Amino acid sequence: MRGFALLLALVYSATAQHQALIDYLERRLLAIEDRISLWQEQTTRYASELRELKQQMVSQLESLDKEKETLRTTLDGVGTRVDRVERELDYLETQNGAQPCVDVDDKLIEQQVTLVKEKQKAKYFKLTDCSDMISSIKAMKILKRVGGPKGMWTKDTGGASGKVYIFNGTAEETINEFATVQDFTRSAGFSLSTDLKIPSSWKGTGHVVYNNHVYYCKIMFLCTA
Ligand SMILES: *[C@@H]1O[C@H](CO)[C@@H](O)[C@H](O)[C@H]1NC(C)=O
Repeated sequence: MRGFALLLALVYSATAQHQALIDYLERRLLAIEDRISLWQEQTTRYASELRELKQQMVSQLESLDKEKETLRTTLDGVGTRVDRVERELDYLETQNGAQPCVDVDDKLIEQQVTLVKEKQKAKYFKLTDCSDMISSIKAMKILKRVGGPKGMWTKDTGGASGKVYIFNGTAEETINEFATVQDFTRSAGFSLSTDLKIPSSWKGTGHVVYNNHVYYCKIMFLCTA
């Protein structure tokens, strides 16, 4: 009987220990589950925050793109307007001629008396022929942008043909000829010009067009001091 009671007690205590262990394990499991669900929540939150951030960045990039585009179109517009103004100024200048000559012209018209008329006229023609008289340079004006960074342009220095010649580059064989200064300023690139091929390529920039003849250097001169 005593033996049985002892056995019972032993069994009871073993069961109690077992139960305590199970309780403990269950508590731990619950705690772990809680933590896992917390992590899941956090992960979901991070993911959605990341998605939002991505969306924000995408929309900001889009608006930046749009702003860039408007800026570019504005700049294009400004460019064309500047070009147009330049062309119009060129046109006005070619219409009005050089200022000092006009002043002389006005004065001379006032003084046109019959006897001195011929004399005055001669003087007038002398003064209006400004080709070899530079009194001052007021400002730089861009007549035209065309061709590469090197080369030269000139009119026919010998006559009143009004043609404009472009030597694009420093070693080429083809000269571009424009019929008038207006053509030159109006032309998109070299589109309004005629190609003139010369027998051998020029070197450098020291050329002259005189009475429909081109005088140019075939070899580069080496200058030493
Ligand atoms: C003018 O010369 C430049 C280089 O010197 C060249 O790149 C350009 O193509 C030339 N233009 C024409 C229309 O020949």
